[in-house]
Amino acid sequence: MRVCVTGGTGFIGSHVVDHLVEWGNQVFIIDNLISSTTEFVEPLIKTKKVTFLKGDIRNRDFLLANLKELDLIIHMAADPDVKNSVPFPIESFEINVVGTLNILEAMRKNDIPRIAFASSGGTLYGQVDEFPITERAILHPISPYGASKAAGEMYISAYTDAYGFKGVSLRYANIFGPRSNHGVTYDFFNKLKANPKKLEILGDGKQQKDYLFISDCVDASLLCVEKIDTQQGSYDFYNLGADGWHTVNEVANAVIDAMHLSGVEFTYTGGSKGWVGDVAKMILDISKLKTLGWFPKVSFKEGIARYITWLEGYLKNA
Ligand SMILES: NC(=O)c1ccc[n+]([C@@H]2O[C@H](COP(=O)([O-])OP(=O)(O)OC[C@H]3O[C@@H](n4cnc5c(N)ncnc54)[C@H](O)[C@@H]3O)[C@@H](O)[C@H]2O)c1
Repeated sequence: MRVCVTGGTGFIGSHVVDHLVEWGNQVFIIDNLISSTTEFVEPLIKTKKVTFLKGDIRNRDFLLANLKELDLIIHMAADPDVKNSVPFPIESFEINVVGTLNILEAMRKNDIPRIAFASSGGTLYGQVDEFPITERAILHPISPYGASKAAGEMYISAYTDAYGFKGVSLRYANIFGPRSNHGVTYDFFNKLKANPKKLEILGDGKQQKDYLFISDCVDASLLCVEKIDTQQGSYDFYNLGADGWHTVNEVANAVIDAMHLSGVEFTYTGGSKGWVGDVAKMILDISKLKTLGWFPKVSFKEGIARYITWLEGYLKNA
């Protein structure tokens, strides 16, 4: 297939690109490099297995001119920073909502038949009382980022039905692993590198969240993409999680173990949430995903260990 991955130089996007190329697809990346570089896909660009075009999804004319003759768009480009969306809600709206609408307009005008959307399980559902959270839960986002992902999904639902193409939303848990430059594990690693004796934890450390390792995330994402032509209806959505949750304190301890540290003193900023807009309790029900024959393969501890090993090596080579 001819596939465009927006945000394809970023953390999840670059892993998705690797797999698409491995499976023989023609891959085209659009990214404005605001929070990434081409480093992870550079060998693929050099060997002409991937075409890269620097551009911004907020620019509709650019997308109309360049998103052509494609079988599928995997739309990953976004401002993924939940915390930052609270002081900067308009920026989050312009990239995540207007950017998504611009992609859909290019699909409508240039006859592109399929889209997979990197959505968010935690922030989309937001404030929820029943766990694990199924895809039937009411959407109650509590951050502008969460609202932007909900709006993106609603536009995809409307466009796929109105203009006759297929779409699937991938409602991700917290994704972690090599190449990530954000998230709690990355934050703890950097804090502990700066001071291996003390670790500041945002909130009370008791927040419970669902953490999915990157290789499992990519496998599950591409399985949902594979099923897009046979899915019921023009639009579908799946929770992509690890079938379990861990407290932030557990993440801290796993990072400390993986870094072979001891005697680290924890300090807490306090409160049940890490920041305004933080979803303090989140576990995704992945029964629907399991009906496709998928199950997570990498355990939480194993994933943290692999990520920390990668971060240590990356730091050494920087
Ligand atoms: N990492 C997670 O835990 C997680 C969880 C839920 C959802 N998601 C979603 O998955 C997707 C990928 O996230 P990630 O963690 O790989 O983030 P990332 O920041 O590594 O990747 C996002 C990419 O989008 C690009 N980008 C940002 N604004 C752009 C714009 N205006 N035009 C073109 N490119 C732009 C960035 O340069 C970057 O390469 C995002 O949509 C994010 O919201 C991620």
